[in-house]
Amino acid sequence: MSTAALNFSGTWSTADLKALNERFEDASAFELLDWASEEFSGDVVIASSFGLEDVVLIDLVARHELEIDIFSLDTGRLHQETYDVMGRIRERYDREIEVYFPDRERVEEMVQQKGPNSFYRSRENRLECCYVRKIEPLGRALSDREAWVTGLRRDQNVTRKNTPKIELDRGHGDILKLNPLADWSEDDIRQHIDEFDVPYNELHDRGFPSIGCAPCTRPVEAGEDARAGRWWWEAPESKECGLHTDDTGAAQ
Ligand code: ADX
Ligand code: SF4
Repeated sequence: MSTAALNFSGTWSTADLKALNERFEDASAFELLDWASEEFSGDVVIASSFGLEDVVLIDLVARHELEIDIFSLDTGRLHQETYDVMGRIRERYDREIEVYFPDRERVEEMVQQKGPNSFYRSRENRLECCYVRKIEPLGRALSDREAWVTGLRRDQNVTRKNTPKIELDRGHGDILKLNPLADWSEDDIRQHIDEFDVPYNELHDRGFPSIGCAPCTRPVEAGEDARAGRWWWEAPESKECGLHTDDTGAAQ
């Protein structure tokens, strides 16, 4: 399929997605980002929790001056170290970071009814908290976008092993979800960070390979899975918060 035939026309067919994935499966992360910048200029955005993958994406976009925005979902329960790296990234790259907070009334109601730590008591409560603090704000962050970029990698967890480079996000209005680092290993990420001296969350050097909200993230032991410290009281196959599930119609 030619590039012209792939131009955004409001809908993406299965054939478009197949062609895009064939084209970008062996391409570099930069090539996919560069294409997205051209294709969706101004209407494509990186979702950043300032984890190792996200700072690599921000570095690539900023150094190559691509027209890709950045947003972050501030759940109100993040580690101080995450705010520190957000500050350092702002200073280093002089890029605006859109910050989305949860709906105040929903948080107040949830905490008043169930207490501040309801997520430890049941999976239902945990998903409710993730919905209020992340998923609803994500909907707002993506409401006027044509594509978003994530730092998902296939070897992060069993739930992510089939992550494509490009998928259709049905849950957010049939926009594209781009995962340029899907085939990167953690070593690839670390190498990029060292080579370009990218600011990163110092918790990564204190045993936290994957960082979410403070009460739901703990360090992992040597040999443990990278996401073992996220919602550690739940089974590995259920460790998603809804940011990356049920959005494509395809199994991840
Ligand atoms: S999560 O679903 O379990 O929280 P994870 O922490 O592995 O996800 O991050 C995967 C990708 O989801 C990140 O690379 C980033 O693109 C996006 N993401 C996760 N948390 C946030 C957040 N708080 N704000 C913006 N994007 C996020
Ligand atoms: Fe709530 Fe924990 Fe989900 Fe953060 S990760 S939104 S604190 S349940």
